[in-house]
Amino acid sequence: MDKLTVRDIPVTGKRVLVRVDFNVPMDKQGFITDDSRIRAALPTITYLIDYGAKVILISHLGRPDGKVVPDLRLTPIAQRLSQLLGQQVGMATNCIGPEVEKSVATLKNGDVLMLENLRFHDDEETGSEEFAAKLARLGDVFVNDAFGTSHRAHASISVIAKFLPAVAGFLLENEINTLGSLLKNPAYPFTSLLGGAKVSDKTAMLHNIMSKVNCFLIGGGMSVTFLKAKGLDVGASNFEKDSVQTAADIMKKAAANNVKVVLPVDVIVADKISNDANVQTVPVEFIPKDMKVVDIGPGTIQLFEEQLRASKTVFWNGTMGINEIHLFANGTRAMALTLANLKATTIIGGGSTAEVFDSMALVDRITFVSTGGGASLLFLSGEK
Ligand code: 3PG
Repeated sequence: MDKLTVRDIPVTGKRVLVRVDFNVPMDKQGFITDDSRIRAALPTITYLIDYGAKVILISHLGRPDGKVVPDLRLTPIAQRLSQLLGQQVGMATNCIGPEVEKSVATLKNGDVLMLENLRFHDDEETGSEEFAAKLARLGDVFVNDAFGTSHRAHASISVIAKFLPAVAGFLLENEINTLGSLLKNPAYPFTSLLGGAKVSDKTAMLHNIMSKVNCFLIGGGMSVTFLKAKGLDVGASNFEKDSVQTAADIMKKAAANNVKVVLPVDVIVADKISNDANVQTVPVEFIPKDMKVVDIGPGTIQLFEEQLRASKTVFWNGTMGINEIHLFANGTRAMALTLANLKATTIIGGGSTAEVFDSMALVDRITFVSTGGGASLLFLSGEK
């Protein structure tokens, strides 16, 4: 990675302001349901503690839109981090202002202080220079370890780097090196398994990695738009009208580049999106008029598995069906198990795809699970 990291700067005795992405899922009681993003930031935080830095953590949680939302306070996250570090993590009541400056002034070498949710101020998302300057007053050096938010031009991500010497943390370094290797030197054959609802979310990425991959396996809601582009009747299924031509163009470009595009050959259809729906397995040529595609079928699972088993590199982003409904999660679970058993480099884009591996306890059997959903897609799209 051609960027400086925390290794390259003196940190002992310095106030080190670290942007982390602790935007973790929580249940209605405020319990953290997946702490992977917190654990992924531990190497940077413990390094800074070990080298005697005063560690000041900044993060957002959710989308409070510039207002103080009590359920989106970072207190439970500071508590979880305290447990993981085995040391007390202080919690500030705000992220800027005189009170926070006082708390920062009392920090000793090796102490950790977590500031309150950045997005309680709308200046964070608008990328306000004034807000970034106020944050910058709290540190001597800035560390970006928030890969999952690095696709946002927010005050605490890009603007703050104008005011402080800025380096990458280990999480960011690892993400850039691993995802970067997909673009630079993947082992071949390289297959990308894509799903999720929308083609439009992945169009730029599909174009950018076209010259690197051998095969796209396309499932999930986005495959319905591709089936439509092939002239099939998709019944009552949701698809992106505006992206049908895009899907056709992608298939044309793939053919010209010698890249295989494998679409579902059969699908699970349902009369409603619910666990008590009536479901059928049908070939894609016979989708009933009044039913919606909700998952890939067994024939497609087999076809995708054959391609995956012949691959040396796999990048997966997006579920194969409507995963929140247990009845429609079969395709995604089958793909997760297949990937876990491959002798290949397996890289998972974050978000809901990562959650599948966590819920199936398969994370340890995958080469790399990105902490960024949107961020990994934009990175692979070649965006800055
Ligand atoms: C994420 O979860 O993808 C990141 O934390 C970014 O959050 P955002 O989509 O609300 O900007």
